[in-house]
Amino acid sequence: MRTRFNEGFLWGGAIAANQCEGAYNEDGKGLSIQDIMPNGIVGPISDGPVEENLKLVGIDFYHRYKEDIRLFAEMGFKTLRFSIAWSRIFPKGDEETPNELGLKFYDNVIDECLKYGIEPLVTLSHYETPLHLAKTYDGWRNRKLIKFFENYCRVVFERYKGKVKYWLTFNEINSVIHFPLMGAGILTPKAELTKQDVYQAAHHELVASALAVKIAHEIMPDAKVGCMVLGVVNYPMTPHPDDMIASMERDQDLMFFTDIHVRGKYPRYTKKLFKELGVNIQMEPEDEEILKNTVDFISFSYYMSKCTAKDLSKYEKGRGNLTSGVKNPYLEESEWGWQIDPQGLRYICNYFYNRYEKPLFIVENGLGAIDELVEVDGEKTVLDDYRIKYLNDHLVELGKAIEDGVEIMGYTSWGCIDLVSASTAELKKRYGFIYVDRQNDGSGTLNRYKKKSFNWYKEVIRTNGGSLVD
Ligand code: BG6
Repeated sequence: MRTRFNEGFLWGGAIAANQCEGAYNEDGKGLSIQDIMPNGIVGPISDGPVEENLKLVGIDFYHRYKEDIRLFAEMGFKTLRFSIAWSRIFPKGDEETPNELGLKFYDNVIDECLKYGIEPLVTLSHYETPLHLAKTYDGWRNRKLIKFFENYCRVVFERYKGKVKYWLTFNEINSVIHFPLMGAGILTPKAELTKQDVYQAAHHELVASALAVKIAHEIMPDAKVGCMVLGVVNYPMTPHPDDMIASMERDQDLMFFTDIHVRGKYPRYTKKLFKELGVNIQMEPEDEEILKNTVDFISFSYYMSKCTAKDLSKYEKGRGNLTSGVKNPYLEESEWGWQIDPQGLRYICNYFYNRYEKPLFIVENGLGAIDELVEVDGEKTVLDDYRIKYLNDHLVELGKAIEDGVEIMGYTSWGCIDLVSASTAELKKRYGFIYVDRQNDGSGTLNRYKKKSFNWYKEVIRTNGGSLVD
């Protein structure tokens, strides 16, 4: 069997604390913004934790992590991407002293991974700003959050050094522009925010991200720290030069964040962009120097591509997680209307790599689908051939990107075990190789069952991609 993947390729899966841990108020954990978002980004927030919020229990990873990591090990995972819930370590976010029980929990998770030779890949902030910081400071609009984040980073770097080599700063950092609450813990409704407000918040996150890189390298000289962006390809809807320019401008939305992380300064095109948007970033004298702490690699999520045009109103609107554009007539879509485009993954890998020549890490990719639990030979399972096809096709294209010359460190499939979705906060939409018996109404045993894709992925990893079908 021929493989396009290099030896040591980091195969694995990805999860986030707020979407799987549950135990939202156990062992001293404080609330996070997710505890007041029972509807994800699509509905109203609540005053406090409400029973309908599926994230309060999640899939109970907090109590079942040993069983889950054992299953990941059985699939042969080389890495597991998970996030640390900031509010487990600093329940309010602005304290000086961390919560020992929170730190202990991640000691256990990390040790459990290492027991099986699974490299932890840790996200420092995955849409889970402590609620107190959102309420008291309006999240990342306030510069003080940089200091609080720095304190949190120092604590976790000191605690887990020697055990965790791979770190990511902010999950999908570019989302702050589109979803200020989720991306930056900003409680002021989006409609009341100016572009100045959101880009200033983005600036604070970018400085905090660069500071995290600096501190990580000081405390852990061997550590590799990456930025993490939502990766979306913007095809021009037609070859009309107007659409081409529209596509170039949309790309700058994405490149803005990676350019700063990789090149260590604001790109020249922001001058014009900020003028048009009426944005004037307030910089402190030290910011320029801090931003020079550039990342070791670029990581991104990739689920779909989209089309863009000068006049979007002429076309049918597409759907997607954070940004959606217009529909591509050549592509099929998932049950949630996300357009499926495996070749887009090859395209975006080349796009990033040719621009920066930095190693890439695909840290999210997968198909959210409705699964049906059935019985085969007395065992409960899901016959998820649709998921196998989606993943196979994307991995084949990733292999082609490697052949094109792109350096890829690894691939972690999103929601390798079913978890609560971020945008719609539901459980009906499943991504996993492992089915979790918990339903949208909160019912279910929380038992785990291997889907057909479980053995499929195990074989992909065993053969280092040799079993993929071209
Ligand atoms: C990414 C997020 O946007 O997409 C994840 O980083 C999220 O947290 C994933 O779960 C899939 O989106 P959704 O809305 O289907 O959960």
